[in-house]
Amino acid sequence: MFIDVLLGLQWGDEGKGKIVDYLADKYDIICRFQGGPNAGHTIVINGKKHVLHTIPSGVFRPGVINVIGNGVVIDPIVMARELSTLKANGIDTSSIKVARKAHLILPSHRFLDAGSEASKGKAKIGSTLRGIGPTYMDKTGRNGLRIGDLERPNFNAKYTALKEKHLSLAKIYPDVDFDIETEEAKFFECLAAVKELEFIDNSYYVNQALNEGKRILAEGAQGSMLDIDYGTYPYVTSSSTITAGVCVGLGVAPQKIGKVYGISKSYCTRVGSGPFPTELDNDLGEELRQIGAEFGATTGRPRRTGWIDLPQLKYTIMLNGVNHLCITKMDCLNTFKNIELATTYKINGKETQNLPYDLGEDIEPQYTSMKGWNQDINSIRDFDEMPKEVKDYIAFLEEYLGVPVDMLSTGPGREELIIKGTVA
Ligand code: GDP
Ligand code: IMO
Ligand code: MG
Repeated sequence: MFIDVLLGLQWGDEGKGKIVDYLADKYDIICRFQGGPNAGHTIVINGKKHVLHTIPSGVFRPGVINVIGNGVVIDPIVMARELSTLKANGIDTSSIKVARKAHLILPSHRFLDAGSEASKGKAKIGSTLRGIGPTYMDKTGRNGLRIGDLERPNFNAKYTALKEKHLSLAKIYPDVDFDIETEEAKFFECLAAVKELEFIDNSYYVNQALNEGKRILAEGAQGSMLDIDYGTYPYVTSSSTITAGVCVGLGVAPQKIGKVYGISKSYCTRVGSGPFPTELDNDLGEELRQIGAEFGATTGRPRRTGWIDLPQLKYTIMLNGVNHLCITKMDCLNTFKNIELATTYKINGKETQNLPYDLGEDIEPQYTSMKGWNQDINSIRDFDEMPKEVKDYIAFLEEYLGVPVDMLSTGPGREELIIKGTVA
């Protein structure tokens, strides 16, 4: 068996959670492979909204096992809150398994994140301040603490040594207020909830499950343009958000990768700083923000909005080997007379479909304008019944991107989805 992958092709918040929740019904196991509680995945079931940060979006499907892989970074405080909210809503959390090799976010990692961002001033990344960067720095710097350390007698000593190191480093940020004692007390209290979960060696677990014929889906967090290597560095997150990240983040070999579902909005958003060539920093952008309710699921920050960027999508489809596309938030374009799609970039007078080294350089996106459908498409469930303009828009995307659009999302609800091609 192969492990299928679902991930975001833009700057995050493409609607991954909703689509994973839909697909989870067809899988035995859903695995997060990277990122941490910087993610906010929204799932709307029977009108009730759930937001997940660390727990895979398969948790709402009874019988599905949910694995948090070694590539993920875990904040016990966020995890404990997530678990108790789910339980309060009657959701069974007993299927959740956590990799022993996943790294822990300490309160002092968040302190360093806050300090680093404050010291950057205008050049700040716009981090979610969840301690992600400093935790991955400790991972690659070979200083980090892992879930498996919780089972060892010297955990407290290791914790204290790392915290003390962080506190000395934090002295370079004298203006940042952080109540380490209160946060530390919360951290230790919340470890109890984490320790109740089953700890696994996810490489053996996932490979054995594949050998037994289990169907597995890897759920991406963030988006490919936030990838540490291939995103808009330095305005990125600190993990490998692309398909290659599945191999290291779960311990599976490249030849085990199966289908790759790429998720894109029908337009584009970005939260936090960094280049965004098709950004609409104007009334139209505000209109898109209001219609799409574009406010961060983790931080509540307004998301920046703009038109869909096809050179950008072509790039991330290439990076990920996407063979199934899902376009979300189709309904959010219902009222636009014309829909713009960036098809090339003009850089120094020359047109190209390739992304330059720095997306922050002077890029003039060149647009194709298509007629909008100007009607409510939310309740349509059959692609054949879609207005001609929707069909034209999708055909244009497929032609340009060279990948079939197999799913179209027409609202936040679980059932607001059209399956056009073959999925799962
Ligand atoms: P994720 O991080 O990729 O899982 O996406 P988020 O949950 O952060 O953001 C997507 C937002 O769009 C959430 O509020 C979803 O409920 C909502 N959403 C997802 N698909 C659709 C759609 O097709 N139409 C509309 N209107 N909202 C959607
Ligand atoms: P989901 O999984 C959108 C952005 C932050 C910031 C940059 C670095 O919900 O799509 P970090 O906290 O990692 O130091 O932030 O990345 N970012 C996201 N933007 N969706 C996310 O996750 C994001 N996770 C991080 O806004 O610009
Ligand atoms: Mg999100």
